[in-house]
Amino acid sequence: MFFALKVDFLITKIQPLVTRQYLHTTTSCPKKVVPSNLKGKSKGSQEWLTRQLNDPYVLKARTENYRARSAYKLIEIDDKHKILRPGQVVIDCGASPGSWSQVVVKRVNGDGKDVNQRKGLVVAVDLIGIYPIDGVTIVPNSDFTSKNTQNLIHQVLDGRKVDVILSDMAPNASGVHDLDYESILTLVYAAIEFSIGSLKRGGTLLFKIWEGGREKQIEQDLLQFYEKVTRVKPNASRSDSSEKFLIASKFKGITSVPPNV
Ligand SMILES: C[S@@+](CC[C@H](N)C(=O)[O-])C[C@H]1O[C@@H](n2cnc3c(N)ncnc32)[C@H](O)[C@@H]1O
Repeated sequence: MFFALKVDFLITKIQPLVTRQYLHTTTSCPKKVVPSNLKGKSKGSQEWLTRQLNDPYVLKARTENYRARSAYKLIEIDDKHKILRPGQVVIDCGASPGSWSQVVVKRVNGDGKDVNQRKGLVVAVDLIGIYPIDGVTIVPNSDFTSKNTQNLIHQVLDGRKVDVILSDMAPNASGVHDLDYESILTLVYAAIEFSIGSLKRGGTLLFKIWEGGREKQIEQDLLQFYEKVTRVKPNASRSDSSEKFLIASKFKGITSVPPNV
């Protein structure tokens, strides 16, 4: 508790000074802030605390009321690629703590606050809990890869087709590269498979993947169902992270095979 309060103090009092310089400067980096209370903490905690204090997106998220810095990855991607629009139906997979859903609900008018625009529908799914977000239907404690969860999502959709599927899902890393990579591939292919059965023609799938050698194959698989695949690495994604995002756009739809053919 005491540690949490201390961290909070450091982030709110010291980081603004760092952030003010850093977010508005592209030519030079500020000096790294080293927290003064690292004594007795594990190396991992020390690194985490130092990184948090020096990360401009962490403070920006706090001041703009986003639950996580990852909000800025989606904001950046959507500002450039124009995926989200008012009135859309969006599924946010791996949504906890909820910052992507916070972004989505504003952009698709999921809470109906803009009476001049169509109201969207946002469904957020995660293995763990998600605190309520106005305008978001939450499917908590649910494994997206399970058929039960996917049936539950279809119940919420109540026959509506989906415009956009987002997946920021990531497995808990074990540290064993091959194992972790297989785990994220399972999540990626679950999202791809689900998208084929639920997207509208012209719809979009945006998902996270780690570098690991199978990206080309994933892109080829996607191109059977989507007209275009774009790789993106937003600035808000840490440069030392192997994560990147793929946008599969213009879903071709499923052409039904006539009976007896
Ligand atoms: C990086 S976090 C997502 C952060 C979120 N986009 C945000 O902005 O708040 C990854 C999430 O994926 C979830 N996840 C991992 N495997 C999952 C699965 N099989 N089904 C549903 N969610 C999963 C984790 O529980 C975790 O909350």
